[in-house]
Amino acid sequence: MRVLVTGGLGYIGSHTAAALISEGYEVGIIDNLHNSDLEVLDRLQKLTCREIPFRQADLLDMPGLEKAITDLGPFSSVIHFAAHKAVGESVEVPLQYYQNNIAGLINLSACLKQHQIDNFIFSSSCTVYGAPKEMPVTETSPLQPPASPYGHTKLIGEDILKEISHFTDLRTVSLRYFNPIGAHPSAQIGESPKGVPQNLLPYITQTAIGKRKELKIFGNDYDTPDGTAIRDYIDINDLADAHLKAMEYLNENSSIFFDVFNIGTGRGSSVLEVVKEFERVNKIDIPYTFAPKRPGDIPQIFADTEKANTVLGWKAKRLLGDSLKSAWAWQQTLESSNY
Ligand code: NAD
Ligand code: WQD
Repeated sequence: MRVLVTGGLGYIGSHTAAALISEGYEVGIIDNLHNSDLEVLDRLQKLTCREIPFRQADLLDMPGLEKAITDLGPFSSVIHFAAHKAVGESVEVPLQYYQNNIAGLINLSACLKQHQIDNFIFSSSCTVYGAPKEMPVTETSPLQPPASPYGHTKLIGEDILKEISHFTDLRTVSLRYFNPIGAHPSAQIGESPKGVPQNLLPYITQTAIGKRKELKIFGNDYDTPDGTAIRDYIDINDLADAHLKAMEYLNENSSIFFDVFNIGTGRGSSVLEVVKEFERVNKIDIPYTFAPKRPGDIPQIFADTEKANTVLGWKAKRLLGDSLKSAWAWQQTLESSNY
């Protein structure tokens, strides 16, 4: 089984590539290095003791993309991670988000037929549910008008793939990730955001290491038990495993053309609970203050994972504390390697 991984040097792509290789899959990676760098390839190769075929290519450059797939192929499946992902940035430069995430998806899809790649795993997001009225959210919960251009690109992406899969031989599983956190148990790969982190976990680990003075907790008067917002934090290694299960599902069920799964733990944790658990498992204090709510944030969201549990045979195994330990171990690797 040979799998094309777009965006494979990014946070989720690199962990999924490692999981695929450890299960005996052959992997080829395409990335334009917009939000990653070649050091990740180096680390992945050391971690897996493999030379991993890689091409630096941009999904927006059709001839370059074609050439990269030809050079690296053949493949039977693609896992498509390559996209811009920052909610706040997408409000500032919406066109860049539509161009990269939608035109990129269309270009990739247009290449698949001639390369006989029929199985497609798409990185979707819980943002497609907007601010849900009922919790936990199931795959049939109403999709809400997107609060950001980023969220809209995921909704449009799902629609495009649903249509293509209806009218052609393409078969797609869309995975709606909740909040991925943590790092590989080796602490050799992890999340390394460029600039000031927007997401909670990298901000916490950078505060713990002294790179940031204090964490600002956005909002403490939400209608939640401790007043801080609730999310479903899914361990990156569990998330990587979900991609393997989704590929098996497509391989074993030839009548499936399009399907969607929530990938979360089914448990909601508040920001304060995450901070306290981080302090407990890593025995380190996180200085924090309360700050006003972040515009666009919702009070709470967590997944109903029944469908992924029963249909894919996938279930999140790691506990919140496991992810918080691995995230901290990775931050220390970053610090000691000056990467
Ligand atoms: P990431 O930024 O770490 O990885 C994305 C990778 O894609 C980067 O290495 C980047 O250089 C590459 N890339 C971007 N545009 C490209 C293009 N045009 N051509 C080639 N390569 C390109 O992001 P991530 O956190 O690993 O997210 C992966 C996917 O999962 C994205 O589609 C994202 O929207 C989705 N997702 C992420 C989260 C999250 O919180 N991290 C949650 C839900 C969904
Ligand atoms: C989590 C909680 C913040 C930083 C985003 C996208 C979503 C998905 C995951 C891609 C919130 C609070 C954060 C900080 C804080 N990505 N927080 N201080 O916003 O749930 O989801 O990333 O698809 O689509 O919207 O994740 O990690 O930014 O925030 O208090 O410095 O932590 O307010 O309640 P979010 P996050």
